[in-house]
Amino acid sequence: MAETDQAPPQSDQLAAMNLTDAVEKHAFSDRVLIRSIVGRPDGGAGLSGQKVRAGGWVKTGREQGKGTFAFLELNDGSCPANLQVIVDAGVAVLSKLVATGTCVVVDGILKVPPEGTRQKIELRVEKVVSVGEVDPAKYPIPKTKLTLEFLRDHLHLRSRTNTIAALARIRNALAFATHSFFQEHNFLYVHTPIITTSDCEGAGEMFQVTTLISESEKLEKELIKSPPPSEADIEAARQLVSERGEAVKQLKAAKASKSDITASVAELNKAKENLSKLEERSKLKPGIPKKDGKIDYTQDFFARQAFLTVSGQLQVETYACAVSNVYTFGPTFRAEQSHTSRHLAEFWMVEPEIAFADLQDDMKCAEAYVKYMCNWLLDKCLDDMEFMAKSYDKGCIDRLKMVASTPFVRITYTEAVELLEEAVKGGKKFENEVKWGIDLASEHERFLTEVKFQKPVIVYNYPKGIKAFYMRLNDDLKTVAAMDVLVPKVGELIGGSQREERYDVIRERISEMGLPLEPYEWYLDLRRFGTVKHCGFGLGFERMILFATGIDNIRDVIPFPRYPGRADL
Ligand code: 4AD
Ligand code: MG
Repeated sequence: MAETDQAPPQSDQLAAMNLTDAVEKHAFSDRVLIRSIVGRPDGGAGLSGQKVRAGGWVKTGREQGKGTFAFLELNDGSCPANLQVIVDAGVAVLSKLVATGTCVVVDGILKVPPEGTRQKIELRVEKVVSVGEVDPAKYPIPKTKLTLEFLRDHLHLRSRTNTIAALARIRNALAFATHSFFQEHNFLYVHTPIITTSDCEGAGEMFQVTTLISESEKLEKELIKSPPPSEADIEAARQLVSERGEAVKQLKAAKASKSDITASVAELNKAKENLSKLEERSKLKPGIPKKDGKIDYTQDFFARQAFLTVSGQLQVETYACAVSNVYTFGPTFRAEQSHTSRHLAEFWMVEPEIAFADLQDDMKCAEAYVKYMCNWLLDKCLDDMEFMAKSYDKGCIDRLKMVASTPFVRITYTEAVELLEEAVKGGKKFENEVKWGIDLASEHERFLTEVKFQKPVIVYNYPKGIKAFYMRLNDDLKTVAAMDVLVPKVGELIGGSQREERYDVIRERISEMGLPLEPYEWYLDLRRFGTVKHCGFGLGFERMILFATGIDNIRDVIPFPRYPGRADL
């Protein structure tokens, strides 16, 4: 085997590369990233002869040559590819290195392997720096192919698998793409609150934030340990106050010395203090505080009812109506009993809000943003996307290319319903009845985007009865300027609208929907003072990952899924 850098350059770029370039060391660690070796265009061949320190977890390991050496496939999560590592028996106890999941840090020399092997480079180990051993009999993530469902029961270790690590990199890339897209278009990133006192969607699907329950439990325990004073205790304390009061009076009448009177007044004050403490404690009652038969939220942490946000939209509007282009990107929470593969109780949403813009601008922005993310993945995550194509969804790369290059179809809700009705006439069976006024079900959305058009479809101008109060009423007084972006694999990816900027109209809409006005007074102020035409949308971040990768269940594309009955870690 040749020892030098003889792998022939495959492109001009490679030819131009200095093949003796030192491999890039990680800035905050004493080893190199495996990506910086095997992720090079030449697969690392140009680094042959270099001494490096690498670290990672063993994907597969096997002793060979009757135990004289071992092959390890090492992965550190920096890219999907592994680094092949060869350790001689003279260097370490091989049996301690080969178990899947073992963590090893090794120093060695990079060498081009013999002809005919898949790898472009391998690491010949000179020294094993450290080992984090694994007992294979106990390791829950063995080498065998595991189902994603099985892995959901091992959230803390599933990031060691190729799939979950690839999804983590894709998710990271999409987050970066999101910031990049909005920053390039001069949007400000605004952090909206996680704890809120407004219900944005008015759908009553909020998780409550309260300390009343834990406080009442604490109090219950405390009262068992030291029970509240009895009526007799309080009476005795009251008696003592009046006796001490009498004593002071008598001393004063007898013109006693100043120091005697002061001492006696101090005694009286002590007795009064004790009495008020006992009276206070006697009021303590176990259970959640109530007033007029209802829970007394004035005693809660925020002195009012509070919730986890379902959307940052209402709050981000306050910034849109001041600094024009904004977006928020954070976790949102919905306490809906949805056991589907597209719903989570905690999910991330990207919500831009644009002032001086209408529904057409909104659709344009949504389309540009989705296309930007597709291109970003094709550009920056092709290796992970190839893994997804190989393992989960053959068509996922083509889908990204198609979406990045094809204009989205735009149809009104009314047209969508007509198309669905036509399909029904043609023999298509839906579980949910199709007629004007219904909220489109997932099966309808997927028919439009997957069967009818086979590309993303934006449906706009929905009936006002099925949409939120803040959407702008159209001139027909029947529909609102709402839009949903539907994509293959997922259905609804984005929901958005032009906002109702007319004070009288939005006030009327809030009342019409049976919502109380008082909590929305601040929101109405945005219309009372300097109102502006504006619009925005929300993209379900996990749904974007489902769409991009072809993974079937939303629980697998978020690191720590929360859904009815489950919130591990
Ligand atoms: O359509 P939604 O409910 O819209 C809003 O919340 C608006 N306030 C957004 C805005 O205009 N700023 O939700 C937006 C998107 C949906 O299209 C969907 O992709 C995703 O959020 N989504 C969910 N994703 C996962 N799990 C759930 N339970 C989801 N509910 C909505
Ligand atoms: Mg929606």
